[in-house]
Amino acid sequence: MAFLQPRLFVELGTYWGTSFYSFCQAVKDRELATRCVAIDTWEGDDHTGKYENVVFETVQSIAKKLFPTTDITLLRSYFADAVNDFEDESIDLLHIDGFHTYEAVKNDFTLWFPKLAEDGVVLFHDIADSCDYGSVTYWNELLDKYPGFSFQHSWGLGVLFPKGCKHFDIMKKNNIFDKIWIYEYLSELRLLRIQKEAADERGEKQHALINYQEDQIALLKEQLEATRREIELLNSLLPVRLIKKLGFVKQ
Ligand SMILES: C[S@@+](CC[C@H](N)C(=O)[O-])C[C@H]1O[C@@H](n2cnc3c(N)ncnc32)[C@H](O)[C@@H]1O
Repeated sequence: MAFLQPRLFVELGTYWGTSFYSFCQAVKDRELATRCVAIDTWEGDDHTGKYENVVFETVQSIAKKLFPTTDITLLRSYFADAVNDFEDESIDLLHIDGFHTYEAVKNDFTLWFPKLAEDGVVLFHDIADSCDYGSVTYWNELLDKYPGFSFQHSWGLGVLFPKGCKHFDIMKKNNIFDKIWIYEYLSELRLLRIQKEAADERGEKQHALINYQEDQIALLKEQLEATRREIELLNSLLPVRLIKKLGFVKQ
């Protein structure tokens, strides 16, 4: 966002807004004049599962609260319907993150391609080689046809330049491929840190559970000991009570 400074940014597939807010945050931080449009039915698909209206309401209220001065439009629509609201060659940055089958991603790209501005950039989510989606196959097909590159961490992000390489050429001059390597390294490091923190947290919980169970065992041992003493006492009193009951002892 900082590099492109797009006039119009459009996201296909927003869900809870994780990626959309990242773009909005960049607009806010850099004080850009970008118009940000998020398009989604906010009903879900076969990958996210169907979800409730609370998702849209939350995205809407967070956008209002955190980005009050950013030019944001939340368009509740099918991608195929919303496309008619945009002028040809008007979108500088398009993020495709809808349904991830081969056909769906191909359809999204083909449908929205005429709306992309000259030297516009298209981002594709979920294209890492390790992903099990048709989006990976389609992304690789696109890379055979157009210039681009990808980040492989966190399910992957493809960056495509299908309408001119002006931006890509500048990026290459600015060592984009070294930067990608650094991003991959940092993301791996961050992932390992998160995994370590999660393992530490699990360890602490197990430790607390063991302490609790040891306390319980000590308590049960005490109760067992008390019961044993009670039984011993009752046993010692038993002959006297029996004798009394049977009347062998003169009162
Ligand atoms: C993978 S999620 C989006 C994730 C989001 N970008 C994020 O950062 O978390 C896909 C979203 O696309 C929406 N979607 C899928 N196909 C759609 C279509 N044809 N028209 C409108 N929305 C669609 C779904 O409702 C779902 O919320």
